Amino acid sequence: MAKLKVEFFCSSCGYNSAKWLGKCPACGEWNSFTEEVIKKPTQAEVRENEWKSTNVKSIPILIDDVQSGNTTRKDTRNQEFNRVLGGGIVPGSVILIGGQPGIGKSTLLLQIALKYGGKILYVSGEESEEQIKLRADRLPYSNPDCYLYTETNISTVLSQAGKMQPDLLIIDSIQTVVSSFIDSPAGSISQVKECTGELQRFAKETGIPIIIIGHITKDGSIAGPKLLEHIVDVVVQFEGDTNNIFRILRTIKNRFGSTDELGIFQMTGNGLEEVSNPSERLMENYQDDISGTTIAAIVEGQRPIYIETQALVTNCVFGTPQRSTNGYDNKRMSMILAVLEKRCNLPFGTKDVYLNIVGGMKIVDPGIDLAIVAALISSLQDISIGRKIAFAAEIGLTGEIRSVPRIEQRIVEADRLGFEDIYIAASSKVEGVKTNVRIHKLSRLEDLFERIFG
Ligand code: TYD
Ligand code: MG
Repeated sequence: MAKLKVEFFCSSCGYNSAKWLGKCPACGEWNSFTEEVIKKPTQAEVRENEWKSTNVKSIPILIDDVQSGNTTRKDTRNQEFNRVLGGGIVPGSVILIGGQPGIGKSTLLLQIALKYGGKILYVSGEESEEQIKLRADRLPYSNPDCYLYTETNISTVLSQAGKMQPDLLIIDSIQTVVSSFIDSPAGSISQVKECTGELQRFAKETGIPIIIIGHITKDGSIAGPKLLEHIVDVVVQFEGDTNNIFRILRTIKNRFGSTDELGIFQMTGNGLEEVSNPSERLMENYQDDISGTTIAAIVEGQRPIYIETQALVTNCVFGTPQRSTNGYDNKRMSMILAVLEKRCNLPFGTKDVYLNIVGGMKIVDPGIDLAIVAALISSLQDISIGRKIAFAAEIGLTGEIRSVPRIEQRIVEADRLGFEDIYIAASSKVEGVKTNVRIHKLSRLEDLFERIFG
């Protein structure tokens, strides 16, 4: 009979310890340890398992003898989701989708279930069958082979899935399923870890792919412990908040493809619509005769996106100048303001500065820097940029304008969107790009100031 034992787990990284600790030695988090009861196998059980494992049928195989190239990815019939997965679902893979409540995880997976070509088992511990049906009625798809199952015991779910042999198993969500081998409540670290481990074993043994929904913790990590991300094959995260136009699906880990991918969706009355032309939508309200607004040519994932950046620079109202950003790193904006002050003698130190990247996307591509600088100067001097101009370069601390990757791709997109001019770094290599767009090369911030505002 297995022994019951109390252990303590860090709710941030999953580190476990026999004693309660104030600070986690692994991740440095304070006050993150929670108590959980787990069953430890006895010495006899361990010996029995060892004996079993020496009798396993599987044998090591030469790498050259392993057949490759026959893994066919299954098309999910959702182009944005396929893109994030690297082309489709690999048989036997376990995919974890994380995101804040209300972002659209259940909607996306139900939509995929209803559009998928094959048998689906949708396990929900969050909603009743009626609630799921109500949601399904809003979606413009139907699948006669989609089964709903409101069960939370993982062994029951897996034995049912073993009998049904679905083409895809969906678990909504990992925090609601429980394993009877563990005494802690649903959603606790040891439950989440155990259930994910069972799902992973099931997927590998049967070849049935599994998509797991995981809630996000306050600090933004999926399901709390990072170790969950180590168990599964693919981790994707839903970003954006409920007030924004777009919902972004970003790959964080992918054992079968690149993590450099991004899917873009828009929540509508009939579910999540795929957005294949984000640039047009992100610029639809752009007015080139107003100061403080510019267009940045950025690359998110693999594709170029043209996005409007807005700055508002006003005289400081309180003693300390206010700085506020939306979609861009606050510290990076402070750095850019300091560079502008030092290199171009612009009086940002006495101004309140607000920055907004339209559409609620969080931009990490430094190629947006030049557009931000142009928007800041444009607002400070109240001069509108005027024509259809795009910017794509990074700013360095000495005021130098640095080149960014995939510049050709950005220029080709500028052409497609009907831009007349693009400002890039002098060091960018653009040989061989046939375009009608005028390319302006800048080496220092002072050049930008002279050429546009001088
Ligand atoms: P949901 O998918 O339940 O989010 P999660 O599973 O991530 O918690 O809910 C998404 C939100 O989207 C919810 O507030 C209702 C809304 N919604 C729509 O706007 N249109 C739709 O067609 C559907 C199904 C939901
Ligand atoms: Mg949900």
